[in-house]
Amino acid sequence: PTIFVITPTYTRPVQKAELTRLANTFLHVQNLHWVVVEDSPRRTNLVSNLLEKAGLNFTHLNVESPQSLKMGGSWIPSHKPRGTLQRNLGLHWLRDSFNNTQPPEGVVYFADDDNTYSLELFEEMRYTRRVSVWPVAFAGGLRYESPIVSPAGKVVGWKVVFDPNRPFAIDMAGFAVSIRLILERPQATFKLEGVKGGYQESSLLKDLVTMDGLEPKAANCTKVLVWHTRTERPMLGNEGKQGFSDLRMEV
Ligand code: UGA
Ligand code: MN
Repeated sequence: PTIFVITPTYTRPVQKAELTRLANTFLHVQNLHWVVVEDSPRRTNLVSNLLEKAGLNFTHLNVESPQSLKMGGSWIPSHKPRGTLQRNLGLHWLRDSFNNTQPPEGVVYFADDDNTYSLELFEEMRYTRRVSVWPVAFAGGLRYESPIVSPAGKVVGWKVVFDPNRPFAIDMAGFAVSIRLILERPQATFKLEGVKGGYQESSLLKDLVTMDGLEPKAANCTKVLVWHTRTERPMLGNEGKQGFSDLRMEV
């Protein structure tokens, strides 16, 4: 089975470093297709060149988030969804690509560009029938958040502190969806309107499954295989001195 990884990404000083780290991880994974969706008005040379050189199967797309959604924009302050339109474009591309053809066996995974992914994670998700789930470290103000799994191996709730009543109290990094299900439910997308912080994942998943249908992975959710790491912004204060470093140098 193929793993389609959808990654939203945007221009900032650490972008190339983040994508380099991801590419280095994905190179160790068999049958992976990387769908990189830039949050930009056009595909950038930096990302195009990186993808060309990486040696991975990839698709390079772009869609710019409206200004009101961008960080610092005038969106409702408690909620600035990041990467939403980009993930939806990735889904659209998948549905379009396999519209009239036999879809490959496989899964879709939404991999943000700053997280840390173990190689084991990909082998866990590869055999997802509909939607599989697992713990995510450093999410929701905890060492890890996790689905609660009954002795019978069913997901029965969420071991989280932040709003446990969400339909699916799980970070973006904590689930994968089979290609077949994505194609069966063409209406299922991430919603922008009226989606509170932390509800983005639920806005997709509730159109795809019920809690009862979730498949716990990572040894019944007893292992951490992905970390919601966030990269520190580099200090570039000395660049303020006009003309200090050569801006033609790609970083
Ligand atoms: C958390 C979740 O882990 C994300 O999946 C969720 O999208 C996000 O919250 C949210 O609130 O929407 P967090 O680390 O806060 O993650 O988000 P980022 O890593 O900053 O952004 C998520 C993804 O969107 C990244 O791949 C990032 O490159 C991309 N992004 C971010 C854009 O494409 N455009 C932006 O303006 C910001
Ligand atoms: Mn992140």
